[in-house]
Amino acid sequence: RRPVILDCDPGTDDAFALWLALASPEIDLRMVTVAGGNAGLARTLENACAVVGLAGAVVPVVPGAERPLRGGFMGDGVVHGPDGLAGIVLPQGPSPVEAVAADAIRTARPGSFTLVGIGPATNLALALATEPALSDRVSEIVLMSGAWGEGNWTPSAEFNAASDPEALDILLRSGCPVTLVTLELTAQALVTPARIAAMRGLGGGACLRAACDILAAVPPSRRMGGEGHPLHDPCAVGWLVAPDLFHAGKAAVEVECGDGPGRGRTHIDRWSRTPTSPDVTLPEVLDGDGFFALLGQRLARLP
Ligand code: BDR
Ligand code: CA
Repeated sequence: RRPVILDCDPGTDDAFALWLALASPEIDLRMVTVAGGNAGLARTLENACAVVGLAGAVVPVVPGAERPLRGGFMGDGVVHGPDGLAGIVLPQGPSPVEAVAADAIRTARPGSFTLVGIGPATNLALALATEPALSDRVSEIVLMSGAWGEGNWTPSAEFNAASDPEALDILLRSGCPVTLVTLELTAQALVTPARIAAMRGLGGGACLRAACDILAAVPPSRRMGGEGHPLHDPCAVGWLVAPDLFHAGKAAVEVECGDGPGRGRTHIDRWSRTPTSPDVTLPEVLDGDGFFALLGQRLARLP
């Protein structure tokens, strides 16, 4: 089992990433750290606790950054609603741990672990920047972040990358192996009415029912031609759980940290057009049906 620390900002799709991690024997989820992102920190923290609690899991949930390394909190009340969970109310979860995310990551139990980041990268960057030796213990960093084409937050930038480009830059330069799950990959994890119906048909417990309610409550994305919405974050966990569902290449990646309209844009060189070495793993193709089958099968195991 792979030891994992998961940093999130729930967030409807973050909830799925958490549930998939908690339901998967391939993953030993050691800690959940939380940042402000899809909603303010107070709300994302409450949501993370509720999601973990509904799964009946005992995993420390640790509050982290309210705002990015530079500039103010951006927030996204658009896709996930002001409560971050598209209006679906979960029972209150256990209390968060009284600690600070970056410190908790820095001082995590001995041994190596994988960092999964599915929100603004602030907590992970703070941990790595203040404890450079930590990179020796990080076997891999898997991020849902960026896009090689158009963004979803600005025309240039994906939401997580745009939320804290400086933090993403720190992770990309950390020397740790990085996998970047971009918007082009998550567009292949499209939530359609047929996929929601198939998942509902699995029965399951309170988690799967809440999961289906959340999927049905998120509006279809105009970017996807109104056909459905992309379920971004569990793709990052899926990469660890079932890599056979993906086809990946390598790329050189830089993130734009200037203040212009390109802030947060990820420059992804898939064809070695730049001298930078292509050391970032870039999942490019996803078996969407296989992925939703896995998600349903795993979530149906939860209470
Ligand atoms: C990312 O932004 C958030 O809205 C989602 O939770 C996901 O992490 C997609 O751009
Ligand atoms: Ca997220």
